[in-house]
Amino acid sequence: MQSLRLPISDCLDAAVTAAHAGAAILQSYAHNRAELVIDKKMRNDLVSQADREAEEAVIEILRERTPQLGIVAEESGGETSGIATWYIDPLDGTTNFLHGIPQYAVSIALIAHAGAIITGDTPLEHDTPVIGVIYDPNREELFTAMHGVGAWLNERRITCSQAESLSESVVATGFPFRDFSFSEQYMPTLDYAINNTRGVRRLGSAALDLAWVACGRYDGYWEMGLAPWDVAAGTVIVREAGGICEDIHHRDPWPIRGYVYAGNLHTAPALDAMIQPHLNPK
Ligand code: IPD
Ligand code: CA
Ligand code: CA
Repeated sequence: MQSLRLPISDCLDAAVTAAHAGAAILQSYAHNRAELVIDKKMRNDLVSQADREAEEAVIEILRERTPQLGIVAEESGGETSGIATWYIDPLDGTTNFLHGIPQYAVSIALIAHAGAIITGDTPLEHDTPVIGVIYDPNREELFTAMHGVGAWLNERRITCSQAESLSESVVATGFPFRDFSFSEQYMPTLDYAINNTRGVRRLGSAALDLAWVACGRYDGYWEMGLAPWDVAAGTVIVREAGGICEDIHHRDPWPIRGYVYAGNLHTAPALDAMIQPHLNPK
């Protein structure tokens, strides 16, 4: 029978190695953009061989080092299994990457399933993001976090900002660009943020948006209509940096359905209050 105890330090090492391997492939293509073969999954949903090859490299390492764990990856799918599952976005910020905008990252998270044991002898009551690794190869910034241990940017411990209100905050978001079905709920929140913060940024990589909340560059972040692999790693990193990263609908233990808000202990509740009045009734 499989042990319920998750060796999270070993898993973190594996994820860091895998993130570097994926990023090496991205960077080898980044300098020869014209040669990339680009497919359109649907309108404004692009994928290139860089995404696919980076994902293969990440998966190969994780399979070899943690064969007992499940894998869910953006380009090749997969399913949750075992005591924990990897969520992989080999290239978060594909549109930026394909346009030569240096704002993208490899994002890898491990979600431990209910029943897994992380520390002590008590099994987890619900699914919990336990490892987050986000690597920005353009700045050579590696964001890592381990459940209950902390969050780092390269060798340095990170914490969320100290902003006490939205009026003293710079916040990040993502606008609808592919699926507009939730625009009616989203647009009033953007209008509110534009009018009640120091400024709103939309740089095009959800993983880096969350990593930047964790290290205090942004004071908060919210977005709707994402996928689990966009937010999984960032959730652990923000939480371990002392912040809040949650499901907008307050239904799931982490924002697995891609409706996410994040910030410090002041700004996250303020973003939640900004968003709630505009959500469709459940
Ligand atoms: C996208 C980025 C972007 C967000 C999109 C995501 P991708 O991920 O995170 O910031 O607004 O919704 O799909 O497609 O580049 O991996
Ligand atoms: Ca993504
Ligand atoms: Ca992607």
